[in-house]
Amino acid sequence: MSNSGTIEWDYAPAPERIRPDISDEYGLFIDGAFVEPESGESFKTVNPATGQTIARVASAGAADVDKAVKAAKAAGGKWSRLKPTERAKFLFRIARRLQECARELAVLETMDGGKPICESRDVDLPLAAQHFFYHAGWADKLQWAFPGCTPRPRGVCGQIIPWNFPLLMAAWKIAPALACGNTVVLKPAETTPLTALHLARVFQEVDLPPGVVNILTGAGETGAAIVDHPGVKKIAFTGSTDVGRGIMHALASRDVPLTLELGGKSPNIVFADAAIDQAVEGVVSGIWFNQGHVCCAGSRLFVEESIVEPFVAALRERMGRLRVGDPLDKNTDVGAINSREQLNRIEALVACGQEEGAILHEINDDPLPKRGNWHRPCFFTGVEPSHVIAREEIFGPVLSVMTFRTPQEALRRANSTPYGLAAGVWTDKGSKVFDIAGALEAGVVWCNTYNKFDAASPFGGCKASGFGREGGRHGLRPYLNLRSSGA
Ligand code: NAI
Ligand code: MG
Repeated sequence: MSNSGTIEWDYAPAPERIRPDISDEYGLFIDGAFVEPESGESFKTVNPATGQTIARVASAGAADVDKAVKAAKAAGGKWSRLKPTERAKFLFRIARRLQECARELAVLETMDGGKPICESRDVDLPLAAQHFFYHAGWADKLQWAFPGCTPRPRGVCGQIIPWNFPLLMAAWKIAPALACGNTVVLKPAETTPLTALHLARVFQEVDLPPGVVNILTGAGETGAAIVDHPGVKKIAFTGSTDVGRGIMHALASRDVPLTLELGGKSPNIVFADAAIDQAVEGVVSGIWFNQGHVCCAGSRLFVEESIVEPFVAALRERMGRLRVGDPLDKNTDVGAINSREQLNRIEALVACGQEEGAILHEINDDPLPKRGNWHRPCFFTGVEPSHVIAREEIFGPVLSVMTFRTPQEALRRANSTPYGLAAGVWTDKGSKVFDIAGALEAGVVWCNTYNKFDAASPFGGCKASGFGREGGRHGLRPYLNLRSSGA
């Protein structure tokens, strides 16, 4: 790295040395214990930064799903009748225990999924604990959250989560469900099952009653079996739009409430009057955080035409200083791509951008590690609205830069996508913030910042990005039957 343009220096490697207690094999977590799958099947989970197998994990079939749903149903009676303050105590204990073993869990998250340790340590783990703390606070206040209603739990909740924030997504889903008195059958993604299984160990350590949370590992068929089980009374899904649509079809003829948090193609709009350095940082964190494996990644950048040259120059300079490599190194900014399949998808879309005539700007030519899945942070200029890279979710460290001349044009282009998850607005003018934010078709709009999350703040999308909210008071609603108290 160049310091004031004169001294060349680099960071010494700073690998995280803590090693979590990883088993060679993991069973399914049903009714409070790890058990062998009825299916007799298992699969391996690998470290995407090295290609090495970390552990073998059971694959749950329909019979295992049935067992887990029955365990959750049996546990539901007692759990839902437990004094709310007692339920809250369990959630507080889970939160405290997550904090105690945060360092090991952060390392495990990074090993299994490829994200840099600075992110798992500073974002995923603190937020996962925060979700349990926050929802512990709601457990005995539900009747005040929805005045005039008698809130009742729905029963067994089926929850299916993706690989980009494995432990955090588990916390987002489990904490509100338990606070509202439900029980859970949760399936983590097949490439990142380990932190959910270690969360199951936490449940054992805090003596969470058996059956209240069951964790089933497996791929899409396991998820489909959870959706299809008649004992499941609510489904929450985060993942791809295609699978989300399939789940919606599967539930069309059943009275099972559904929340979907799907993909996105979120815009960042930078006006000429914005604080440019801050905006560059926001754009950088919006697209290169977690290798772009973020549903709300700011993957389309609209810059006001009058500042596009200095902005792109600043962006290129900042991108050049990102450190790609060993995710366990505390200096790493961009880690490994989660799976070979995801890397193939990203590479195909980048090739498509080049074929369509957009100009690719890549980080320096330093060699990437020989093993594992890697993709350099990059951005495209010369992007037309019709280009595939301007329309399709890439879910990788690839940004499409476009320009606009008027606020109306920025809005029109930002909204011209089937998705509606998130958006960012960068301007010095408060009135412009309110005008633009109010007209953006997005569930979440960040102003002069990006990718900020809090358990108290509802998150979710509109249009093809799904429906329903997670977090805050809004996030409790899907987990409750709200009958009018007068009825
Ligand atoms: P996916 O949607 O297949 O996987 C998400 C979860 O759904 C996993 O746990 C998976 O096992 C489960 N699943 C798969 N098929 C299922 C089915 N038929 N019924 C029930 N559950 C099922 O996503 P995938 O294949 O890992 O990634 C594909 C693309 O999806 C990515 O390139 C990205 O564009 C998008 N994606 C979006 C995410 C988000 O946070 N919104 C997260 C992950 C992927
Ligand atoms: Mg893995």
